[in-house]
Amino acid sequence: MTAVLEIRDLSKTYRTLRRGRRQALAGFDMTVAAGEVHGFLGPNGSGKTTTLRTLLGLIRPDGGEMRLLGQPVPERLAEVAGRVGAIVESPQFFPHFSARDTLSLLADAGDVPRTRVGEVLELVGLRDRAKDRIRTYSLGMKQRVAVASALLKRPELLILDEPANGLDPGGIREMRDLMRSLAADGMTVLLSSHILGEIQQICDSVTIISLGRRVAAGPVEEVLRAHSAASVRVRLEAADDLPRAAAALTEAGGQVTSLPDHLLVAAERPAWITRTLADRGLYVSELAPITVDLESVFLELTGTAPVAGQARQVDESVVVGGHA
Ligand SMILES: Nc1ncnc2c1ncn2[C@@H]1O[C@H](COP(=O)(O)OP(=O)(O)O)[C@@H](O)[C@H]1O
Ligand SMILES: [Mg+2]
Repeated sequence: MTAVLEIRDLSKTYRTLRRGRRQALAGFDMTVAAGEVHGFLGPNGSGKTTTLRTLLGLIRPDGGEMRLLGQPVPERLAEVAGRVGAIVESPQFFPHFSARDTLSLLADAGDVPRTRVGEVLELVGLRDRAKDRIRTYSLGMKQRVAVASALLKRPELLILDEPANGLDPGGIREMRDLMRSLAADGMTVLLSSHILGEIQQICDSVTIISLGRRVAAGPVEEVLRAHSAASVRVRLEAADDLPRAAAALTEAGGQVTSLPDHLLVAAERPAWITRTLADRGLYVSELAPITVDLESVFLELTGTAPVAGQARQVDESVVVGGHA
């Protein structure tokens, strides 16, 4: 495997007068292989933007090692910057300029031949609207202008921070098709998101971050398989009893994720669940093995779902795919 991006043990603590110290990255690791669409997944505030900004030399880390296209950064960033396209803050364009004018200006500024402008407009599917003013564009089209600007230099690696943010389902679909076609042309794409369903559909592999640490990484299929060990959905005859049931199963050694109208119990036999609950006068109305999607893995790993009123702590990294 050729890694285009490697991060080892990255740490960053922000110090602000108003809010004091805030640890954004606590020994974070990530590896992105050449040619893949890699999803960088985590809830808001988990450290995604901090990681990407650090990688691009916009923030100074407290510790750790980073390599971009084989070169250590920030030391050698200048040498590889031309081969990386990135959109980390949503870029602002002049609303009265057309997409073509905007990209032509950027091409001139970056010593890129003007012929490339037509190519990137074609790539992002904006050729037919290229002469219209940007202010007449939908948010999705504006995002595609941003992607087009990042593509001008023919980057080997494209980094997008939350590209689906604020897009309607149609816009998200367009963005997904665009990522896919770029990857098909051999580009490596790294995109961050807190929106899980999309990552599952777009990406070959994922890194899941929680509280500034990697909690899972690998091909999407493997991450799912590693965490799909016979989860069972449990509903009770009296929904009010769910908290009591969660507590009982946890106490008996089960791994429970509480959701509004049911529980997810990992890696336990249905008979054990029924018996444990019945012993406490709790009666099950449904026991169903569930097909796991990235969302439930994510909930489980990041502890976003409360267990018996308490957030679950994740203290161990789960890495599949062999590149720990
Ligand atoms: N400039 C900053 N100053 C202080 N704290 C910050 C700053 N930027 C981010 N943080 C904090 O660092 C943590 C990670 O933030 P961020 O990297 O933006 O997460 P994400 O992109 O995953 O939502 C959060 O707790 C956030 O509040
Ligand atoms: Mg962010």
